Amino acid sequence: MAKTKTVWECSQCGERYPKFFGRCDNCGAWNTLTEVVVTPSPKSRPLQRLVPPPSRTNGIPQLALPITQVCSDRHPRLSSGLGEFDRVLGGGIVPGSLVLIGGEPGIGKSTLLLQTAAHLAKHKPTLYVSGEESAQQIKLRAERLGVESEQLYLLAETELEAIVAEIQALQPQVAIIDSIQAIFWGQLSSAPGSVSQVRECAGLLMRVAKKLGVALLIVGHVTKDGSLAGPKVLEHLVDTVLYFEGDRFQSHRLLRAVKNRFGAAQEIGVFEMTASGLVEVDNPSQLFLSSRDQVTPGTATIVAWEGTRPLVVEVQALVSPTSYSSPRRTATGIELNRFLQILAVLEKRVGIPLSKYDAYVASAGGIQVSEPATDLGVAVAVAASFRDRQVDPFTVLIGEVGLGGQVRPVAQLEQRLKEASKLGFRHAIIPNSPVLADAGLRLSRVQRLLEALLVALPSSESEAPPCLVAEASYGRTS
Ligand code: TYD
Ligand code: MG
Repeated sequence: MAKTKTVWECSQCGERYPKFFGRCDNCGAWNTLTEVVVTPSPKSRPLQRLVPPPSRTNGIPQLALPITQVCSDRHPRLSSGLGEFDRVLGGGIVPGSLVLIGGEPGIGKSTLLLQTAAHLAKHKPTLYVSGEESAQQIKLRAERLGVESEQLYLLAETELEAIVAEIQALQPQVAIIDSIQAIFWGQLSSAPGSVSQVRECAGLLMRVAKKLGVALLIVGHVTKDGSLAGPKVLEHLVDTVLYFEGDRFQSHRLLRAVKNRFGAAQEIGVFEMTASGLVEVDNPSQLFLSSRDQVTPGTATIVAWEGTRPLVVEVQALVSPTSYSSPRRTATGIELNRFLQILAVLEKRVGIPLSKYDAYVASAGGIQVSEPATDLGVAVAVAASFRDRQVDPFTVLIGEVGLGGQVRPVAQLEQRLKEASKLGFRHAIIPNSPVLADAGLRLSRVQRLLEALLVALPSSESEAPPCLVAEASYGRTS
């Protein structure tokens, strides 16, 4: 009998150590090492029979093929029934692909996948495996969502071998596993949800699904810090990694592609959670804009680029005198380091004494817009809050701000301007880029941040704070 051996495994990243340490050297997490019994490699075990044998030609196993002989038959993608979901996948589900969908509990992963499964099942058998809910609970949910389909098969099961057997028996075109942390393989000694269980279960499911050409949609729960717990080790294994995010207390949800072998990464899909399930949002920009006649001081509008489309988003800043020895800075939806850099540029190049002020910035709806083209909007919002002034609500700001206070060109400027124009914006402050086709907006080209501030927040010199007047002359002489 094989000798059993124990090792210490990090429950966050899966790194293994021969003995216990308080801190995982690989991911830096504390107290995450748990003792696991190492079992022999699954290859040597009879479970291998679960995976169909390699295809053979004339009894000879087929190995490598010249690229010219590889069949490039493109199978049509399968529509999920939700245009926004298809867009994030790069145009629908690729047959035989493996998609990992991560998200916090309660964000709507099961709802999204049940709706998708019901749509897919209109044409071909689709299997929905739940390790968390009973078949009755899923049926109740489906009734509430108003989706039911004869070819939608439900399986409430957590044991991997039973799931694999069912996939092999049913051969559905799509199988949904909700969630990978709930599934366990009896032959492994570690607990369900542990890194080794997640890795081995997903690995075997993948091999089975690829052989049978079944597309797999796997749900993975995320930890508090936003990383996929356990499934982090799966990110390189799967074809597509999507994160379902959003505020549980707000109705909109974003599905974001962080890796996609069949489409653009960083693509986002926008949904709204309603009483009858997830509904796609046709014009997402409108969701991230408040009414144009309720704009408050310190608000600016930016056009971010998400995946393959522009998104018009409102940014709000608040600057107030600090009562702490070191001022507070918080950023929601904007990368904190970029925000700190913008504050430093505003202080050094424009002369706004922000080191004596607390500064907060937030994007509407908390949507993540950490892209350099948002810099100009953030800088103007901060300056507007400092001066308690309003930026014209029909103006958008696009541009990257350099450390020297210069406004740098950004990619996809034309499409960004077209989106703003479509939403009724009339004016854009942009970097000094080559002449563009008429985007239907009045354009103000600026080379320096200071110029942008003078355009966005015009005022007579007597009204302007001394720092801005002084820097206006600095801007002219430089
Ligand atoms: P769920 O899909 O169970 O989330 P997850 O699988 O990511 O844990 O979604 C649960 C939440 O969605 C729950 O708070 C209720 C809400 N919800 C609706 O608002 N409308 C609906 O039609 C459904 C099915 C759920
Ligand atoms: Mg769920």
